[in-house]
Amino acid sequence: MCGIVGYVGPGDTLEVLTSGLKRLEYRGYDSAGVAVLDDYGEMHVRKRSGKLARLVELLDDQPIAATGTGIGHTRWATHGGPTDVNAHPHLGDDGKLALIHNGIVENFAELKAEIDAAGIELVSETDTEVVAALLGLEVSRTGDLETAFRAVVKRLHGTFTLLAMHRDDPARVYAARHSSPLVVGLGDGENFLGSDVAAFVGYTRRAVAVEEDNIAIITPDSVRIIDFDGAPVSFEEYEVAWNTDAADKGGWDSFMAKEISEQPDAVANTVRGRVVDGHIEIDELTALGDAPLQAIDRIIIVACGTASYAGQIGAYAIEQWARVPVSVELSHEFRYREPVLTDRTMVISVSQSGETMDTMMAVKYAKERGVTTVSVCNTQSASIPRESDAAVYTHAGPEVAVASTKAFTAQITALYLIGLHLGRVRGTLTEADEAAAILAFESLPGHVAEAVATHEQIAQLAHWMADTRSVLFLGRHVGYPTALEGALKLKEIAYIHAEGFAAGELKHGPIALIDHGQPVFVLVPSPRQSPVMHSKVESKIQEMRARGARVIAIVENGDTLVLPFADDVIRLPLVDSIFEPIVQVVPLQWFALELATAKGLDVDQPRNLAKSVTVE
Ligand code: AGP
Repeated sequence: MCGIVGYVGPGDTLEVLTSGLKRLEYRGYDSAGVAVLDDYGEMHVRKRSGKLARLVELLDDQPIAATGTGIGHTRWATHGGPTDVNAHPHLGDDGKLALIHNGIVENFAELKAEIDAAGIELVSETDTEVVAALLGLEVSRTGDLETAFRAVVKRLHGTFTLLAMHRDDPARVYAARHSSPLVVGLGDGENFLGSDVAAFVGYTRRAVAVEEDNIAIITPDSVRIIDFDGAPVSFEEYEVAWNTDAADKGGWDSFMAKEISEQPDAVANTVRGRVVDGHIEIDELTALGDAPLQAIDRIIIVACGTASYAGQIGAYAIEQWARVPVSVELSHEFRYREPVLTDRTMVISVSQSGETMDTMMAVKYAKERGVTTVSVCNTQSASIPRESDAAVYTHAGPEVAVASTKAFTAQITALYLIGLHLGRVRGTLTEADEAAAILAFESLPGHVAEAVATHEQIAQLAHWMADTRSVLFLGRHVGYPTALEGALKLKEIAYIHAEGFAAGELKHGPIALIDHGQPVFVLVPSPRQSPVMHSKVESKIQEMRARGARVIAIVENGDTLVLPFADDVIRLPLVDSIFEPIVQVVPLQWFALELATAKGLDVDQPRNLAKSVTVE
């Protein structure tokens, strides 16, 4: 899950590389490095463990007069710890070539034996340096980087995007992809490479997605794509839908804060254009034809982390509206248990990045078995939507903070739209329900904005609770996965033990955790719409209170029933029950952010994590 950037052109190479790496830092921040050529054609590498800022300091201390060719890398460590020496780029061919890598080379031990036998001494513990050395050997054998590059990529097992440049071929960067992302940016007299378009969107919005097992070769004036056998591959360019403003902090202290506040727009933009003449219509599903959608007898949602909780919430709505059984599986569990799949199964993947390897492999597995695959994705032209039969994009805009927020609410929105579309096509959705959902979507952005406005109240609460060591979250029905998401947010950015429970499960074990002062967030269902569930959750609150818990109740405005039993009350606007997660999660996101901030932590780049998990 590293970030890679490549450049050829007359621009300020180091500026292009470091600004690209800044925008890719969400992919990993264990180390950063660049390789560039100087005016005399000499290769220079600067690299350092830690965040990009440390590399920038190094470049200030040890400047390079770079010419127009360079590659840059930001690392999430796999092979070898996060040290200076393990940072990329790595050198081969006696220092004449530089190579960076995103992924894992699984047959690295076998390849290393070959390098050892050739008497080449490696300095790092990485699989990447082995590839650099191997490429060096091939270049000396063939005398040609392109031939050598093709020969080497064919020998690698595992996952990789590789970028290579050579002193003797100074105006070219070579890039190959196998199960890791790669895009080309098309400039005017300059060209770019990146793990995603964020790498170059400050310079150009014209992009080309490089397909699986292809090689891209860029010069200032040309882009050539070939397959691993050297056959030319045609490609199409597309325009990137967002610009650099969307990828900057816009006055907020963190990307996460900015992204939480952007949720009204994320929801509105995901619905936009999908209500046509009073009906929910998703063009991408219409393109599949109604017959296959009518025939499906089962849906499996595959996703990881936050996206899987969005999937769990979506499952309630899809079953309710489309009357088809829906199960939700973690992508990495799905394919290893030989699931029962037929030509009437639909697999819906949910992924913000569209590059999560576990989810990608689950989609491939399903596709190979003839299943209809639909991707819910936030990243235009990412690998998973391209692999799927239909791509339903969320339009949340770029999400940079590692902790997912606006993508989550946009994913729920997209899954609800899918449920409504399927319900209409399958004849299971009543006109009244469709009209009610459309009305709810209209008012939703405003209600999410009200939830965003709880920020100050939550900040105070988090400030008082800065020393808390454990927090529990409780919900019922769609509130249950929302509780799981609240707990995940807290774990990942505040490093606090947190667990989410289904309220009804409390008495089956977890209530033993309740001790004096134990904070418990309770997502309280609406008493107007779900009086039975409300009263059941209310009794849980009383049971916990009786055992000394500190109850923080998240209620809809006007719910006075739980007031006597709650220590803190967070009030949210009235929404239809099924839409509750989209507003209830917002204070939980703020709570995690504010608690992490109170502990002095970096909320955008939590330890040990990377945003896009492109290894299995
Ligand atoms: C969310 O806060 C996490 N960082 C993580 O669980 C994430 O949702 C998961 O890795 C899936 O990512 P994706 O949506 O890009 O597939």
